[in-house]
Amino acid sequence: MPHPALTPYSLNAHELTNRFAVAPMTRVSASPGGVPTLEMADYYAEFAEGGFPLVITEGVYPDDEHSQGYVNQPGLVDAEHVAGWREVTRRVHGAGGRVIAQLMHAGALSQGSAHTDVRIAPSAVRPRGEMMPEYGGRGPWPVPRAMTEDDIERVRAAFVAAGRNAVAAGFDGVEVHAANGYLLDQFLTDYTNQREDRYGGSVAARVRLPAEVVADLRAALPDHLVGIRLSQTKVNDFTHRWAGGAADAEVIFTALAAAGADYLHVASEGRDWLETARLGGGDTITALAKRVTGLPVIANGAMHHLPQAAEVIERGHADLLAVARGALANPDLPRRVAKDVPLAPFAPGMLEPMATIANTRLWREENGG
Ligand SMILES: Cc1cc2nc3c(=O)[nH]c(=O)nc-3n(C[C@H](O)[C@H](O)[C@H](O)COP(=O)(O)O)c2cc1C
Repeated sequence: MPHPALTPYSLNAHELTNRFAVAPMTRVSASPGGVPTLEMADYYAEFAEGGFPLVITEGVYPDDEHSQGYVNQPGLVDAEHVAGWREVTRRVHGAGGRVIAQLMHAGALSQGSAHTDVRIAPSAVRPRGEMMPEYGGRGPWPVPRAMTEDDIERVRAAFVAAGRNAVAAGFDGVEVHAANGYLLDQFLTDYTNQREDRYGGSVAARVRLPAEVVADLRAALPDHLVGIRLSQTKVNDFTHRWAGGAADAEVIFTALAAAGADYLHVASEGRDWLETARLGGGDTITALAKRVTGLPVIANGAMHHLPQAAEVIERGHADLLAVARGALANPDLPRRVAKDVPLAPFAPGMLEPMATIANTRLWREENGG
């Protein structure tokens, strides 16, 4: 019996040959000015060559004000960025894949920027936890500045401009990063959003900015995919859950579908899908997203565990499976599954001392991977 994730799927106009997608992974491997390199083009192409029909890029910063999260993170702000990404999209398309740019504003979780030392966020709340050494940070997070209405308008405009740049660079669409604790998730999250204007308070108010960003992009890019990524857990908080559980999830998913999202992608930062998605009574947050919106849903979290991946597809918990660590260890994961070749295990050493593409390559050379 072939694995259920090897069945084809239509994501709008895109015929995908199987259900596996490469999950967004920050690789801090662009030039200091945020320009994607030929090394990055090789890296992304390898996944498409290995049978992944859909590749979602690492989080890309959309403006040269406050959005950059890491030194050597790529941007989609200027003509040089667009030219660099054009080579990436050309290579992925050449290998038969589709490629989506993840647009990410780091907000309070910026730990390195070529543009500013000031962080902006919904409220002046110091983030939990500490900065992440694998992306070049260290020590406690600084307290961000609370955003004004003008800041909010500028961020909305930046997402639109970056979306247009993504189209100019040849991407098949964009994914709005509203997961894992970054700016749009800071708006969604009760303890980081203490605003008293229309962007704070109830969950319907806290999802307003992510939904506005989706609606803006939907209007600006009528012929391209506009997805959104959400999560309960965060890079700096692996145990967070939406306080209202399924009721909150319903409000959030409904608002984003109404804004015009083409798909919902539910991430499981630091945990596997079963742990973060379970709602009780056999229901899951990804199945709820499908039921409430009727949209395509991407599940994530240890999908290299193939029995779990099979269950998600067979039982209709999601339509697509985004794989991060498993794809790093197996850029040809779909081909291996098709041929019943065992998967190589992920090793933390692939991302040490920093999560660069070069360090993963070195690790492979040294370990025969
Ligand atoms: C090196 C690395 C970088 C990541 N960078 C991003 C990112 O830029 N954007 C994002 O949404 N998630 C990012 N993630 C989270 C993954 O997309 C994924 O949600 C998480 O690793 C769980 O999936 P997995 O079990 O398949 O690894 C990153 C994960 C890793 C391992």
